Amino acid sequence: MSNVWSTNVSFSNGELHLSGISATVLAKDFGTPTFFLDEDDFRNRAKTWGSALNSAFGANAGHVYYAGKAFLCVEVARWLAESGIGLDVCTGGELAVAVAAKFPVERIEVHGNNKSVAEINEAVRLGVGTIVADSLFEIERIANAAKAHGKKQRILLRLTPGIEAHTHESIATAHEDVKFGFSIASGSAWDAVLAVREHSEIELRGFHSHIGSQIFSMDAFDTAADRLIAFLARYRDEFKVELPELDLGGGYGISYLESDEALLPEVVLPSLHKAVQAACAKHNLKIPKVSIEPGRAIVGPTMFTLYEVGTTKKVVRESGEARNYISVDGGMSDNIRTSLYGAVYTAIIANRQSAAPTTSSRVVGKHCETGDIVISDIALAVDCVPGDLLAVPATGAYGRSMASNYNHVPRPPVVAVSKGKARVIVRRETEADLLGLDV
Ligand code: LLP
Repeated sequence: MSNVWSTNVSFSNGELHLSGISATVLAKDFGTPTFFLDEDDFRNRAKTWGSALNSAFGANAGHVYYAGKAFLCVEVARWLAESGIGLDVCTGGELAVAVAAKFPVERIEVHGNNKSVAEINEAVRLGVGTIVADSLFEIERIANAAKAHGKKQRILLRLTPGIEAHTHESIATAHEDVKFGFSIASGSAWDAVLAVREHSEIELRGFHSHIGSQIFSMDAFDTAADRLIAFLARYRDEFKVELPELDLGGGYGISYLESDEALLPEVVLPSLHKAVQAACAKHNLKIPKVSIEPGRAIVGPTMFTLYEVGTTKKVVRESGEARNYISVDGGMSDNIRTSLYGAVYTAIIANRQSAAPTTSSRVVGKHCETGDIVISDIALAVDCVPGDLLAVPATGAYGRSMASNYNHVPRPPVVAVSKGKARVIVRRETEADLLGLDV
């Protein structure tokens, strides 16, 4: 199962270690459930995506904007600032994290399909590098904010290139019937171009698309690039000027299971470069500056969740087959992905070796809901007992960031581990935190 664990995870006598610290010690020192983050792996992935973009696109490289929605906290924003890559935020809250981390504003890109007047004002006031406009209302709001602050704001227009990406319906974003962007096919993208040109406070830099998440085939990215570049050509034909930027979004698939083959930056980016080059040649356009926005591919593989088993229960199904229900001390409040998208994870008993045979098992949480499932079906040792530690790999993306307080369960902490040292970077929520909201 080596490809589902972060780089500094190792096993000794069957026990999981992160950067040399055993699961037993991690659980004792920080409690469970906890997200453990392999800091060196994270920093390395951020740098690798950045350098792979630079080596594939050379002078035409734009930014790698890390998609903060996957997971963001102040410490991680500091690591990103040091790595030299950019940051994509999509709410005022994410922007506030970037500000708290003193993230270089010119490397911030602001997303969102419903940015409020206040959010846009703050972004323009701070001087963010780019705002990706998603509606005609936003174009007006950006122009007004820029005027009020006496600035010219750089923007991209988010376009929907009409692509059915092969992923879960809820995380596919670039077919026609979605809330995101301006559709090229319907003409609304062109209307947006015309609307932007009414405002001298806005500098239109180019176009953006994000076709979806957890995608494994490059074809969909290539098609998106081709359609956006055709649109750049239309702009050039009409206005006799070439726009300088293209942003092809995120969505690169990672390994949740051993059988998943992650899309690697050193493969993805040369392939994207080839598609961009071909499309630009077709339309006789200069290659624009190309940016991308990986979130999951940077943070996903760098965390695992450590749970403690609380109870187990053998349930005999109608078919007569038995299933072992293993209840852990978290669940849908720290990982909603299984119930929301049918996401599939693996897990191991992390604190010890087991020589016992395996049995069909279901890892469930402690919430009052049948759908509170972490792993629907997995073969785990029959001797898995209360007190065992269960580690679920690849929970870095959209785990802690989508966590909730369902059933008044406090959200788990994030502990960064590097070079044999572990430290809390987001503390565990307490019942006092939750009660503090009651007025
Ligand atoms: N750029 C834009 C404009 C996005 O909307 C997203 C993700 C990304 C980049 C980053 O995508 P990534 O590289 O992380 O796949 N909660 C879902 C994923 C929703 C993604 C939303 N947008 C999940 O847990 O799978």
